[in-house]
Amino acid sequence: MSGDVTYTGSYEARRSARFTVRAAAKINLHLGVGAPREDGFHPLDTVYQAVSLYDDVAVHPADDWSVTTTVAEHLGEVELPGPGENIVDRVAELLCAHGCAPGCAPQARVEVSKTIPVAGGMAGGSADAAAALVALDRLWELETPDDRLLEIAALLGSDVPFSLLGGTARGLGRGEVVTPLTDTATWSWVVVPATGGLSTPAVYRHFDELRPDAPAEPPSAEPVLRALASGDPYALAAALHNDLQAAAIDLRPDLGDLIDLGESKGALRGLVSGSGPTVVFLCASAESAREVAAALAATHPHALLAHGPVAGAHLVEMD
Ligand code: C5P
Repeated sequence: MSGDVTYTGSYEARRSARFTVRAAAKINLHLGVGAPREDGFHPLDTVYQAVSLYDDVAVHPADDWSVTTTVAEHLGEVELPGPGENIVDRVAELLCAHGCAPGCAPQARVEVSKTIPVAGGMAGGSADAAAALVALDRLWELETPDDRLLEIAALLGSDVPFSLLGGTARGLGRGEVVTPLTDTATWSWVVVPATGGLSTPAVYRHFDELRPDAPAEPPSAEPVLRALASGDPYALAAALHNDLQAAAIDLRPDLGDLIDLGESKGALRGLVSGSGPTVVFLCASAESAREVAAALAATHPHALLAHGPVAGAHLVEMD
């Protein structure tokens, strides 16, 4: 092992240490988007909810650095980043820069297990980043304070701070300024992952083309906040809002057809998740969600059941 990472105590005693951290997918219950800022990002007023689809990141001590990824079968053929290009590589770089000795080189064997749709608008990459932050911080015994982890998370991507936090939260700024919300209900979702990703930047660009009149201030999340407080799925269904949906459907008209289909099968409301192409359906109950998923199965065999809110990135295994 190189002496660059500063370990305290006995390294040998921790050679077998292994941590697995789990992080959830997100749905934007409200995604209000304003006109692009000078830095090119769009100001958001969004409400995130973490839902029960998860990626796991396992880390093992090693003398060098490697990241391997396994993808659940239901996600189909997906394109994964090449060596050195994974968001987990960037996590290690930033954690080392913040927490280790100058010039330290990351050492760990990292295994990412994905069940969150890849490039689907559900923050799968952000979940991996959040899980890797927590897992590597443990492995390297950095004890980075939570507020520092949130700052590093914001450098990794707009959704990463929420992936750390989980639950239900409001996101302002470009989505990275997160405040937890009280959300005591359990909401039932059907998630239909789509293949043929819509890239997030492409959907934002198309939003700019369709909405040259977009206001500087993004549309407020207030209606969704009121609906959440009511605990009533019918009220939440009526309030769900995604400013990127028109752009996503313009680029992928089949998503509009899918929303109509799910709603005709009993979902209270269908919505493009974030920048898409995953479509989510809010249902009146867990039983209704099962019925909607079953009714969609003939055309969409990979429709998934999910509920929210669930926890942010958390340790699930250590040995
Ligand atoms: O922050 P993140 O890496 O997830 O953003 C990916 C891309 O999405 C950005 O490069 C930008 O094109 C777009 N984006 C945006 N406004 C935001 C968030 C993301 O334009 N608030």
